[in-house]
Amino acid sequence: MRIDKWLSNTGFGSRKEVKQLLRSGGVTLNGDVVKDPKTQANPEKDHVLVHGEEAVYKEYIYLMMNKPQGVISATEDSRHETVIDLLEMEDQAYEPFPVGRLDKDTEGLLILTNDGQLSHTLLSPKKHVPKTYFAKINGAIPEDTFEKFTEGIVLEDGYKTQPAKLEIIENALEESEVLLTITEGKFHQVKRMFEAVGRKVTYLQRIQMGKLKLDDTLPLGTYRELTEEELSLLSEKVDVFE
Ligand code: URA
Repeated sequence: MRIDKWLSNTGFGSRKEVKQLLRSGGVTLNGDVVKDPKTQANPEKDHVLVHGEEAVYKEYIYLMMNKPQGVISATEDSRHETVIDLLEMEDQAYEPFPVGRLDKDTEGLLILTNDGQLSHTLLSPKKHVPKTYFAKINGAIPEDTFEKFTEGIVLEDGYKTQPAKLEIIENALEESEVLLTITEGKFHQVKRMFEAVGRKVTYLQRIQMGKLKLDDTLPLGTYRELTEEELSLLSEKVDVFE
């Protein structure tokens, strides 16, 4: 790979900025100063230093974000701020994208990566990766909701959902709180499931994907890299009804 690509991928600026950096003599390849942006370097064995600091090359980036309300889960939007706009330039350089969508008014766990294979695995309908949501509902939960959700409920467009697990945290006349785990990701699915029992979701937060839980010390709108352990949790199989 060209050294200018290596440097821009590791957060040392745009290709143009990196060219200047090289020209200034601030970059070494295995101990020798290199100035030509076309110089080839191999991430598997070479060491690139910028003013003595190692530019560690990695191909993939895996981020956990605590998505706030008001931003769109997309890479681009002509009118609204996107989750990509919340990333530092050095992380944007990896060209990550959100794994699946959360509605504009939904908060919580969002994975961003440039690893298409992982994204595909997490989103594949065949894999049934469970996603758990905390939701506030207007009014009490109708009595037969648990059975309907467990069996699969028919939405307004005729689609019958896969079995889902409902846990009631608080059941009250004014407002109730629940956890709902679903294994698919139809458009507005949680909201539409509650609409099918005559209720409205007034607040929605994703708290878990597979075995990976949202780090509740992450303030809304911030993110961090996943640890190795968290990354492997994401790929572990989970049986929702066990
Ligand atoms: N279900 C919804 O209705 N909205 C989301 O953002 C995620 C799941």
